[in-house]
Formats: sequence, C-alpha cells, structure tokens
Amino acid sequence: MYTSRISGLGFYVPEHVVTNDDLSKVMDTNDAWIQERTGIKERRHILPGDGNTTSVMGTKAARIAIERAGIDPNDIELIIFATLSPDMYFPGGGVQVQDQLGIGTVPALDVRNQCSGFVYALSTADQYIKTGMYKNVLVIGSENHSGGLDMTTRGRGVSVIFGDGAGAAVVSRNETGAGGILSTHLHSEGKHKDELALQGPSTGYWVPQIIEEDPQEDIPYYPYMNGQFVFKNAVVRFSEVIQEGLQANGLGVDDIAMLIPHQANLRISQFIQKKFGLSDDQVFNNIQKYGNTTAASIPIALTEAWEAGKIKSGDLVVLAAFGSGFTWGSAIIRWA
Ligand code: UT7
Repeated sequence: MYTSRISGLGFYVPEHVVTNDDLSKVMDTNDAWIQERTGIKERRHILPGDGNTTSVMGTKAARIAIERAGIDPNDIELIIFATLSPDMYFPGGGVQVQDQLGIGTVPALDVRNQCSGFVYALSTADQYIKTGMYKNVLVIGSENHSGGLDMTTRGRGVSVIFGDGAGAAVVSRNETGAGGILSTHLHSEGKHKDELALQGPSTGYWVPQIIEEDPQEDIPYYPYMNGQFVFKNAVVRFSEVIQEGLQANGLGVDDIAMLIPHQANLRISQFIQKKFGLSDDQVFNNIQKYGNTTAASIPIALTEAWEAGKIKSGDLVVLAAFGSGFTWGSAIIRWA
C-alpha cells in the first residue's frame, strides 16, 4: 500500500474586493454586525466581464499547484472538482478544467459536498493513490457564490458570509519515505439536508415552475440557512471529527502544528481553538479577507499558510470541515 502527500498548492481569488461597507449600501447591514458575528471584513466577488467562472478560477489555482508540484498538466491522472456553484447544471467542473488545462482523456470526477467538498475530494484522491491506481491527482475546490446570492435585506443572513475563490492541491504518491496523508474521516447526516440548502433550479423545482409560481416569500433559488442550528451542529461535529482523526493515529491535540478549519465563521474557529486549548499559531484563519468560500476555503487557507512558511516538513496538519448536508470530515496529514 502506498501513501499520498500534497505535492503542490495554489489558490486564486477575483480581484474585486467587497467590503462590509459596500454591502451596507445595497442591504440593511453594517460592518459592526458582520465583524462581530462572523469575523469577516471583506470578501471577493467575480465582476461581470472579468472572465472568471467557477471552472476558470479552479483552473487558475490548479496551474499554480501543478507548477509547484514540479509536474506537467499531462502528468495528472485524475481530476476531482468540488463545488456547490458549478458553471453549468451539467457537465461538471472537472471536465471544464480538463479542457482549459489541455489535459488528455483522464477521468474527471465532481464532488458535491459543499463546505466539506475539499476534504471529501482529498479523501477520494488519497484512496486512489493508496491503492496504486494513480500517482498524481488534481483536487480543486472552487466557488462562485456572488452570482447566486440574494443581495437584498431579505438575504442578509446568508449573503454577507459567502465569497468567491478557488484553491487546488496536487496529491501525489508519497516517495519521501515518511509521513503524508495519515487518514481521512468522513461523515454525513441527511436528516438535516434542509437546514442549509439551495432548492432550485433542480428537477424537483424546475425553471418553468419557478417562473410560473414566481414566489415572493419562499424563494427556492437563493440559498437558505438556519444559521443558529448550523452553528450549533458545526461546533460539535468539528470537535468530534478532529478528535476522531487524532485518535485513529494515536495522536493528541498537543501534536497539532497547524489546524486549518473550513472558514465557516471566525467564531466557530475560535470556539474550536479554545476547546482544544490551541495557540493562535496553531490555527490558521483567513475568513476575514475572503469570507466563507465553501469548498474552496480549506485549499485557499492551506495554500496561504504554506506560502507564509507556517507549514513545514514533519508538521502535523489537521484539516476539518462541516457544512450543508450535513456533511463533515477531517484529514490528518504529516507534512511531507
Ligand atoms: O459554511 C457552512 C456552514 N455555515 C455556517 O457554519 C454558518 C453558521 N451560522 C452562523 O455563522 C451564524 O448563525 C450567522 C452569522 C449566519 C448569523 O449569526 P447569528 O448570531 O446566528 O444571527 P441570527 O441569524 O440569530 O440573527 C440575529 C439578528 C436578527 O435580527 P432580530 O430578529 O434579532 O431582530 C437578524 O435579522 O441579526 C439580524 N441579521 C442581520 N443584521 C445585520 C441577520 N443578518 C444580518 C446582517 N446584518 N447581515
């Protein structure tokens, strides 16, 4: 059995910065509320005409990750693309990235696990590498939230949180002789599927129906989130799945060099940090700058932490995510 390691990382965010004050011009919100409840100061939004889409941003992040891995796009043997905001209903983002990168006829797989999408995708890549089937897998998380948010006061409980961006990792067979991805742990709980969801357009709520009914109060084509319920579940599941990962490897909280939580809400990250007694140096957050970019948030944060020299060979890096589904997961990595 082989092990895998992350051999290259990259991220891309659109240039257009949207501050909390900018949002307060289009909806009834304010900088103080947003910072106090979420920690977010600003986020990036795609601007119409800037050329960015979910797949385009994913490709930009992937190019950087592939170059840093020291390989050629055609060395990629599998593309795994995680998003909740694809360019098209079908086909998925994976084949679009494949086309944009000029990669041959390798398989491309889309993962639809929202905020946990990157951890699910990483886990999938890890399994393919462990069995020896592939040596280099491209894993991408990318989101275009701004195109689908309710930017009126009605949507403020959701819309102020989310931002656009993409992150990518090349996951390769670990030939360093040590470390790598030690384990991944995935969970879901479908009974809470309606607590954070976007209903349509879908086959259950198709476009002609939406146009005909024109619902004003119960709009199904904007995301719905039961914020407090999601928050309460998030802090419990984050803690559980981090502990599960550490225990599976005979490790403890003291062994963590860097925890990279999905950037859902700074208050959630701080709750977890306090609960585990971790120092500021042991937890990386960048939600202040980018908001919650769902499937993209972990690879963006991981890349920024690595670029800042906060992750070194031999470090124990823990990734953890929670989100819509509900779904959650963790990855325990000995950086190699
Ligand atoms: O990444 C996927 C997982 N998602 C999450 O983890 C999100 C988890 N949940 C949260 O982060 C928080 O629940 C939110 C940040 C979404 C909301 O914070 P909250 O402290 O739970 O606020 P709330 O929804 O209970 O709303 C409190 C008040 C309400 O007003 P009233 O009813 O008390 O008068 C809201 O209408 O704040 C109001 N409000 C706002 N005010 C200003 C809601 N959104 C806003 C806003 N600006 N943007």
